[in-house]
This record gives sequence, C-alpha cells and structure tokens, in this order.
Amino acid sequence: MLHLRGLARRVKKRLLDLLIPGRKTTSELDFWRNEIANYQKWFLGESKFHYKTRCPQEDQKVAAPTLKDSSILTWHKLHQEVKYLQDLELGTDAFKGKRVLDIGSGPIPSATCFEGIQLYCLDPLISDYVKAGFPLHYYDNVHFVHGTSECMPLFDGFFDVVIAVNSIDHVDDIQQTAKEIQRVLKPGGLLRMHIHYHRATVTEPLELNDAKVANLFSWCQEFRKVGSYSQMHSVDLPSDEKCVLWSNFQGLSREI
Ligand SMILES: C[S@@+](CC[C@H](N)C(=O)[O-])C[C@H]1O[C@@H](n2cnc3c(N)ncnc32)[C@H](O)[C@@H]1O
Repeated sequence: MLHLRGLARRVKKRLLDLLIPGRKTTSELDFWRNEIANYQKWFLGESKFHYKTRCPQEDQKVAAPTLKDSSILTWHKLHQEVKYLQDLELGTDAFKGKRVLDIGSGPIPSATCFEGIQLYCLDPLISDYVKAGFPLHYYDNVHFVHGTSECMPLFDGFFDVVIAVNSIDHVDDIQQTAKEIQRVLKPGGLLRMHIHYHRATVTEPLELNDAKVANLFSWCQEFRKVGSYSQMHSVDLPSDEKCVLWSNFQGLSREI
C-alpha cells in the first residue's frame, strides 16, 4: 500500500513537471526572494527572530550601501556561517589549506565559515540569485560556479573536500550526482553531507533514506552516518522527517 502511494506521488510529480516546465526553479527562486524580505525585517528588528536567530544588535550589523545588502551580509555572518558549522559538526579550522566544493550552495556562500580554504560554490541558480538581488560581488575570495551537480563544469580530482548542506535532496538525478562527486573528489578526499530525509516536494524531489545513501556512495571508503537529528534550523521537524549527517571522516560529531 505504502509502495503504491509512493509510486502515485512520483507519477503525479512527473506529470506536473511535464505540464509546468520550470516549476522547481520558480518555486526555489520565490522562496529566496521572500527570504530577502524576511532578512530585511529581521535586520530592522521588525521580526525579533528568524529561524530562531535573534535580530542583530547595532554593533553586529555588517555595513553596506543598501539595506538589502546589509541585511543579507549580516544574515550570512550571524546565521548561515553558524548553521554550516553546526550542521556539519565541524570547527572553523576543519579544512585549512584545502580546496573545498560546496554543492547546492544556495545564494549565500556559507562555507566561508571555514578558514584558510579555497572555496568553490556550485549551484544551478547562481546567476538567478544575482538577478534576484543577492550581493555575490562582495565575495572576491569565493569561486561561484553556475552548474548542476549532475554535470559539474569542474576538473577530475580537483577537490580535497566536497560538502553539501540541505541540497542533495534538491538535485534531479542523485545517481549521476554521486558519480560526479566521485569524479571531482581526489582519491581519498573528504566527503561530508548534511541530508534532509522527507517526502518529495517541488523543490526537493528526492526521497532519501539510509539504504539509498549508503548504496549511492559505496565507492567512498569509510563513508557512514555520523549524526541524526529531529530539528532543522533549530526548528522541530515533522515526525516522518529527519536530518542526517554522513561523512568519511571524524569531525566534532558524536558517533551514533
Ligand atoms: C535549500 S538550498 C540549500 C542552500 C545552502 N546549502 C544552505 O544550506 O543554506 C538547496 C539548493 O540546491 C540547489 N540545487 C537544486 N538542484 C540542484 C542540482 N541539480 N545541482 C546542484 N544544486 C542544486 C538549489 O538551487 C538550492 O540553491
């Protein structure tokens, strides 16, 4: 019965994708445009919290010529960088001297939380995020790569580290993505992914679980589940969802 329901959901999704081309992109961009408005309210103190992050004190605000840019840059510092360290359970010095790829980085290069790295942020919507108003021009030290995880415009064995935070469930073809990660990661490189398990949605089409992840990344030695959580952004998840941390190396994470 459950199997039939899952099949029906996948068929419905496929039909809607065919009938409304681009609906995944439109939904993703609508979400982030709305976030810009939320960041500004949070920055001005009109909302005291956004995802349980308190609005900034005057001395915490990042100065920029416009309210929009100041709000986004401040959100980056006070929420996004902290979230990446928490979600990946790593310290700021985890990847010193390494070349790091963040897959599905979104419109804010949160992996700048890691000191002394060469950072590459890959996302298929990079240029749409710039058009939507995300100020990526402030980050001279970040390489933004407009592309998909299924076909990365990147050299073989180029990265010491690949990370993904809440993005692997957003891709269209996870098998091809896993192959591409294997291709761009140096042999013996570090892989760490924070993955949301849930029912398929428009922007998150993949329904992942432990067995699927283990199977997809079986080529990666020592890759295993190192954490499992019932919250996201410090907010409780519905009982049939969770976030799971997978890695081939020991971080600050507790073993489970
Ligand atoms: C929820 S956002 C996560 C952003 C960021 N990692 C974070 O945690 O704040 C998911 C991102 O995955 C990206 N994405 C969707 N399909 C993708 C694909 N095929 N390859 C790479 N990234 C993809 C989306 O454009 C979006 O920016």
